[in-house]
Amino acid sequence: MKNLMLLPFLVVTIVAVAGPIEDEIIARIHKVGDVCLVGQACAAGEMMEALSDTASSPESIYERSCSTCHDLGIAGAPKMADVAQWAPRLEKGMDTLYDSGIYGLAPGMPAKGMCFECSDDDIKAVVDYMVAASQ
Ligand code: HEC
Repeated sequence: MKNLMLLPFLVVTIVAVAGPIEDEIIARIHKVGDVCLVGQACAAGEMMEALSDTASSPESIYERSCSTCHDLGIAGAPKMADVAQWAPRLEKGMDTLYDSGIYGLAPGMPAKGMCFECSDDDIKAVVDYMVAASQ
């Protein structure tokens, strides 16, 4: 009977001790890095901004979305930095080249090079980058 009366104290003690210990365990097994998705509050830091700036630079969009075809000239794509192949394209004027980048050019050139998250201005900047390297 005397032991039973101690039970509430025992329970209170266990809860009081177990709480901090559990926090400590969670902290200890916590992963080194957290997944942080674009749009989440944790992604608002400077680091993420720096990363996304790099990710949307003309060079990196080119590497991700255009280089597959334009590095090697696949399917008749004008090759990056090939002045002779770009010359007839340049004669069309930049506005036409921008439109081809944004809306595609049948049959081989897909709209936005299939970079669907790219804005029209992103694509224009990539076209500028390609043209600057190819004349
Ligand atoms: C699946 C292959 C492919 C990808 C990916 C691709 N292109 Fe092209 N691109 C082509 C082909 C093929 C042509 C030539 C089309 C033609 O003249 O019939 C072309 C032509 C172009 C031209 C010249 C258009 C003109 O009016 O002469 C531009 C500018 C261009 N691409 C920009 C881009 C940009 C910017 C990207 C990436 C965002 C990209 N391309 C990704 C295949 C591709």
